[in-house]
Amino acid sequence: MAMRKAASTTTAEEPAATLAPKQAVRALSPYSQGKSSAEGFAEPIKLSSNESPLGPSPRAIAAYHDAAARLFRYPDGGQSALRKAIGDIYGLDPTRIVCGNGSEELQLLLVRAFVSPSDEVICSEFSFIMGRIHAEAQGATIVTAPEVDYRADADAILARITPKTRMIMLASPNNPVGDYMRRCEFERLVENTPKHVIIIYDGAYADYVDASDYDNGFALCDRAPNVVITRTFSKLYGLAGLRIGWMYADKSVIDAIERIRTPFNTNIAALAAAEAAVRDTDYSAKVKAHNAIWLSRLTTTLRDLGYEVFPSVANFYLIRFSANGDFTADQAAEFLLKRGVIPRPVSAGGPAGCLRITVGLDHENEAVIDALKEFAAHRAAARSV
Ligand SMILES: Cc1ncc(COP(=O)(O)O)c(C=O)c1O
Repeated sequence: MAMRKAASTTTAEEPAATLAPKQAVRALSPYSQGKSSAEGFAEPIKLSSNESPLGPSPRAIAAYHDAAARLFRYPDGGQSALRKAIGDIYGLDPTRIVCGNGSEELQLLLVRAFVSPSDEVICSEFSFIMGRIHAEAQGATIVTAPEVDYRADADAILARITPKTRMIMLASPNNPVGDYMRRCEFERLVENTPKHVIIIYDGAYADYVDASDYDNGFALCDRAPNVVITRTFSKLYGLAGLRIGWMYADKSVIDAIERIRTPFNTNIAALAAAEAAVRDTDYSAKVKAHNAIWLSRLTTTLRDLGYEVFPSVANFYLIRFSANGDFTADQAAEFLLKRGVIPRPVSAGGPAGCLRITVGLDHENEAVIDALKEFAAHRAAARSV
């Protein structure tokens, strides 16, 4: 009988040399997801991941259920019906759209297709953390461009372009702040960026924005083939759990992504639900209106209570607390959690001492206001002692 080998003495923390990932991967910290539980609450108010509180369109849910009958089939690898629906609703050429397993998969594919280990990738200070992680894992050097007034700054980015720069990543509106780059700034950035440098313009929250000086980037992408727009169904369309996003780009970029994407990266249920969701424009308008009303009401009310609330056009808002002593962001988070409200503390990748809170349902937003009113009263009482 064969003898078992003696158990290895190697621990999980110290992998055998042959199993150690490459240095660029070892240097990364895993992404930490927004919290989803609050002790003592079976159904806490989860406002930590910028999901849509109203959920998806009933038509998307019906399409999801219908897809159940076809689960034994592979999905349409060409994503034709969804690309056509996006093209119809956004007025875009469907042959210049590719869908992904969330927009973050598309950012990963763009990095894999265009960035080599010796390249530099410029990330605007508060761009989405996952894009940065993908570029670091690729072995690229990350160059951070500071934001001005918590917005991506064209001059700061342009000043950091070197012969090694291959990609620029920015999100507008950005996360965790929620502000956006003004059109004139974005145009200036595109005009002055060398044409071999890809600009990823992450519009995960673009569907919420009405500001007349916001640019969705589509027309610029038509003029400048190095501009790539990524969008998601995780926010306004309420399909975060299905993982579905899309990108709009020049045909040469689409061709590169088609060479490396796995043929069935978007599943049958996600394709069906997203197609129904994007076509249900009445429902999207309702979700957008709910967000606009509450974002404005929450910002005004919390500012009136003495909080520093950053300007946001997205589906969340960022509050800055005291840097130290009592009434810090950690204490506010604890206070909210004890009342069953889950905020998102912003540590790496955002301004210090802040909590990011998603706009929720009516009663959820009221709960935040009540809790923060109480927290402010404690603060006022402590200060008057
Ligand atoms: C700015 C930004 N981009 C992209 C994403 C990820 O979107 P998706 O769910 O499509 O991967 C998020 C998610 O929170 C985000 O905040």
